[in-house]
Amino acid sequence: MFGSVQDLIAARCADAADICAPHYAHHGLAIDLLNAGLHVLVEKPLGITVRASKAIIAAGRRNRRVVATAEQVRRCQNSRAAKWAINTRKLIGDVRFAIVQAVDNGPFNYDSSQFKWRGINLLVGGGMIMDSGAHFTDMIQHVFGDVDEVSCDMRTFDTRMITDVPVLGQAPADVEDTWHIVIRFKSGLLVNWAYCRSAPGHKLANAIYYGSQGSLRDLGFPFHCFQGGSEALLADGSKLSNAEIVEQYMQSLSAAERQRLFPYGCLDCFGIEVWDFVDAIRSDRSPEMDGPAGLHAKALSEACFESATLGRPVKYDSVLSGRVRAFQKPIDDFWKL
Ligand SMILES: NC(=O)c1ccc[n+]([C@@H]2O[C@H](COP(=O)([O-])OP(=O)(O)OC[C@H]3O[C@@H](n4cnc5c(N)ncnc54)[C@H](O)[C@@H]3O)[C@@H](O)[C@H]2O)c1
Repeated sequence: MFGSVQDLIAARCADAADICAPHYAHHGLAIDLLNAGLHVLVEKPLGITVRASKAIIAAGRRNRRVVATAEQVRRCQNSRAAKWAINTRKLIGDVRFAIVQAVDNGPFNYDSSQFKWRGINLLVGGGMIMDSGAHFTDMIQHVFGDVDEVSCDMRTFDTRMITDVPVLGQAPADVEDTWHIVIRFKSGLLVNWAYCRSAPGHKLANAIYYGSQGSLRDLGFPFHCFQGGSEALLADGSKLSNAEIVEQYMQSLSAAERQRLFPYGCLDCFGIEVWDFVDAIRSDRSPEMDGPAGLHAKALSEACFESATLGRPVKYDSVLSGRVRAFQKPIDDFWKL
């Protein structure tokens, strides 16, 4: 047991680290650990900004160490099966349009240490677009390919004062709690993504992906794409349950693919994530979700904030390259990035 990461490094007892700290600490911890020769698995989102994420990736390359992004949703059996059904089996044809919505009255509990840093952009990097939304921004690019442009409008209705905040002491909540986003993919696919957690009354949780041959409904929490399963309703009126989709997917895999995707029959997505990290180190290969893949997901979340800040659509590539960073600049300045 160590009181700080510096003590852990000084003890020279570890080869690798799994960083599960608040977002503002990811880059400092990861870079110190990489410079000390450890491999790192960093919780999503990789860094607090695009610059922070690139600094982590650069430290990994400089020190020839593995940087992996801890992202479990894409590794779930249901998620892998839905991706296969869409891209390989072409179950719903060409995917054209999706609607993804979550509306609730769920104020963060700012008395809990877990939420104090989550209420302030300088510490968390952004609200739910950067939190559960980080799973969504990874999965939709993993499944549907490259994004062209993002248009976002957002609101912060919950501006309560938060006390005993790490680093800052006391500050008003400023993370978004409401948004309306349109994501246009290079394929032409349009994804309509809406969220509000300051909405008393009717709850809404809905995600349906529409293609030329039918639609696929997400059966779980919409931001954890397909983790809770999916069901298809096809143009001829026929249906395919999640169990049928998963069974067809598993039968399509060779023994070697099964071992790579579900090592030793493991279906626990966190277990697969950690095994992948350790095996990547042992086998001198890239993990399934390396640093650049984490940056890729991160840049889509940031594109939403940049669009809302600038009041216009932004190109995904301009955010990934770092050219557009109006929202991120105060965060980069604060952390001297
Ligand atoms: N993959 C997922 O589904 C998932 C779910 C929850 C959280 N997360 C991610 O895990 C990370 C942590 O979230 P959480 O909810 O556990 O937060 P938390 O606030 O509950 O816990 C953070 C921990 O980090 C420690 N910490 C803070 N600063 C540190 C430092 N400088 N050095 C070492 N330790 C430090 C704190 O003492 C605390 O134990 C975040 O990146 C979050 O996005 C991922």
